[in-house]
Amino acid sequence: MFRYFTAGESHGPELTGIVEGAPAGLTLTEDYIETHLVRRQQGYGRGGRMAFEKDRAIIGSGVRFSKTTGAPISFSMVNRAFEKDKSNWPKVMAKDGERGDVERITLPRPGHADLVGVQKYGFDDIRPVIERSSARETAMRVACCTVARRFLLELGIEIGGHVIQLGSVGYSSWEDVRKAADPLANTGAEAVYKAADESDVRCLDSTLSDQMREEIKVRRKEGTSLGGIYEIIITGLPAGLGSYVHWDRKLDGQLAQAILSTQAMKGVEIGYGFEAGRNPGHQVHDEIEWNGRFSRKTNRAGGLEGGMTTGMPIILRGVMKPIPTMLKPLKTADLDTKEEQDTRYERSDVCALPRAVVVAESVVAPVLANAVLEKFGGDSMEEILNRYRSLNDNE
Ligand SMILES: Cc1cc2nc3c(=O)[nH]c(=O)nc-3n(C[C@H](O)[C@H](O)[C@H](O)COP(=O)(O)O)c2cc1C
Repeated sequence: MFRYFTAGESHGPELTGIVEGAPAGLTLTEDYIETHLVRRQQGYGRGGRMAFEKDRAIIGSGVRFSKTTGAPISFSMVNRAFEKDKSNWPKVMAKDGERGDVERITLPRPGHADLVGVQKYGFDDIRPVIERSSARETAMRVACCTVARRFLLELGIEIGGHVIQLGSVGYSSWEDVRKAADPLANTGAEAVYKAADESDVRCLDSTLSDQMREEIKVRRKEGTSLGGIYEIIITGLPAGLGSYVHWDRKLDGQLAQAILSTQAMKGVEIGYGFEAGRNPGHQVHDEIEWNGRFSRKTNRAGGLEGGMTTGMPIILRGVMKPIPTMLKPLKTADLDTKEEQDTRYERSDVCALPRAVVVAESVVAPVLANAVLEKFGGDSMEEILNRYRSLNDNE
């Protein structure tokens, strides 16, 4: 089973990752991983200086001649900020010695992990909380999860995401989103992300993209930030991944956990999601039909019934809150003096939603890969593919 760990701070020398449980014989290269790392870095709404940091995950083990060996795969990724500002970060993030004249950060940002982080770990300085809670960690998460994503691709399981709402701008209905995304998804969900990547706000609709960009411009001028909603589509899935028999084997719950474990995610919808609560049953449930195999006339269930895949595409939505670090200050209380003060601005995105889509596409991959491995098993790609094909052919 796929497991992964990440370590590292935003302004430390590097991020580290370990992926355990990948089968042997999977084609994997640093270049492939980089395609998704670069996607994670791109999107309208970024803060200036971040635009020219290019991430690359260096494989340290577990891969030989571009194939996984079945051994743990390790990654390291340099933090450009540390490299670029050698007069500052090595001192601020020093492993040894005393604090000396290194500044303490004492103004917690509302909406970030700052205040609860210092309370929980007993710090008198917010710096260690900022360093590890920051979404810089998602760079290594994307690298690790891309191993699982590559595995799924080998089985014809594709993942693609796109933005459906950014601030006040978005599609007006579920049907409108389906019209934009489903024709692409019908050829495989990678077509969804590839088309979405044509827009720097990762929206499939060009008119909405223009409006979203405008919304970001306006909010940037106001010194505030924005979040929004994205949709993740997964195609090529066999029916029966996950299970209804026990709570922790339900795939919908596992997928929601993966999304909600990502920084700034505040909700997940599956299929019709919250709309299902606003409509009567006959407008929610998908009628079953037989056309050589069992299928559904619609897919408002989002490809999941009873915690199991139905064989229809999985459709997930995630909501991201606006970024907590903003140019226009909020009120906070100083850790030392307890006096009310304005928050201090640190370099930050105005809207990271287009980038968060790539993180969400990534984090669902190990969940799905494990559901596949649970059902089909195997230590090498050859073994897994043989079992996968023969069982799917028998359907
Ligand atoms: C891709 C991505 C980029 C982010 N960039 C920033 C940022 O530049 N500044 C910031 O304050 N928060 C940013 N966040 C959000 C914070 O990391 C997050 O709000 C914080 O860790 C607190 O966690 P919570 O929102 O889940 O409660 C980003 C999140 C993601 C997914």
